[in-house]
Amino acid sequence: MKILVTGGLGYLGSHVVVDLLKNSFSVVIIDNLINSDISSLDCITNISNKNLVFEKLDLTKEKQVEEFFNRNSDIEGVIHFAALKSVRESIKYPLKYYHNNVTGMILLLEYMPKGIPFVFSSSCTVYGAVENNPIDENTPYGNPQSPYAHTKQICEIIMNSKFKSEVNFKGISLRYFNPIGAHPSGLIGENPKNKPENLVPYLTQVVSGRREELTVFGNDYLTIDGTCIRDYIHVMDLADSHIAAINHLNNLKSKKYLDDFNIGTGKGISVIQLIKMFEESTGKKVQYKIGKRRPGDLEVAYANTKKTEKILGWKSKYTLDEALQSAWNWELNHQ
Ligand code: WQD
Repeated sequence: MKILVTGGLGYLGSHVVVDLLKNSFSVVIIDNLINSDISSLDCITNISNKNLVFEKLDLTKEKQVEEFFNRNSDIEGVIHFAALKSVRESIKYPLKYYHNNVTGMILLLEYMPKGIPFVFSSSCTVYGAVENNPIDENTPYGNPQSPYAHTKQICEIIMNSKFKSEVNFKGISLRYFNPIGAHPSGLIGENPKNKPENLVPYLTQVVSGRREELTVFGNDYLTIDGTCIRDYIHVMDLADSHIAAINHLNNLKSKKYLDDFNIGTGKGISVIQLIKMFEESTGKKVQYKIGKRRPGDLEVAYANTKKTEKILGWKSKYTLDEALQSAWNWELNHQ
């Protein structure tokens, strides 16, 4: 089965591509390399020992998208990662995010072959600030905390409209919580082009000496130790959830289908608890100080994973210890 992976050279996309190849899918990657590196292609082939096709392509350019699908009408499924994903940057450059993330989604849905499985890389940020945790998929869209989160809501709504307007649209949105870690080979991992925004890559760069000190953004939240609680999921588990989603869509009896699923561990831990776990897992000390709260941060966010387990037959397998060790291994191999 030939799967198109948009953004397939990025952090999440590259791990899903490796998993697809391991599961004997053939893969075509399109990526505009705005937040990924062409060197990831060799890493993917080194890990999987399989060939795959790569094309540099900007999903916001209609002519490029139309021409690509004219040449690739044999695509049998799509997993769509290609999007800008920095919460903070989206607040600074909202139109860039709406243009890139929404236009790309529209053109992809317009020109991809009809009736093939479509898996969308969505986010728990579609829920906004939620009182009740764990968060389940019936939770309505909240007030988006950033244009990034809003683009994810808009893309899910576009999928819903396409589902209603066509006789054979089959789509799944996977709402990721906090992906962390890296492939055990240490060849692919989270490699932000600029200063990492997210906790784990920043932490590993502090421990490796690439950055001075980690600032913990606030310890005055109403949590066990005052720091925010999140659901950190190993990227290898996250990759497996995409195989489960594609297989689920392939095995459908109905011609049309739309659903959304949380991708998390179902467990929440605080920033300080993660730091302590990292120190225990690696034997390394993390230099950190307590700073001010970061605007837009949610106090608590972790997943209710029952629906995903029941319908997709998927649940996370890796431990936080394994995820953090793999993140450290990536930093050691990559820096
Ligand atoms: C986690 C915690 C920070 C950096 C991310 C993605 C978002 C979505 C959900 C997919 C928070 C604290 C962080 C630092 C810190 N995923 N922190 N010091 O904000 O939950 O969102 O996961 O769509 O796209 O951005 O993740 O790793 O930035 O923060 O104290 O230097 O770590 O305050 O409590 P977040 P994060």
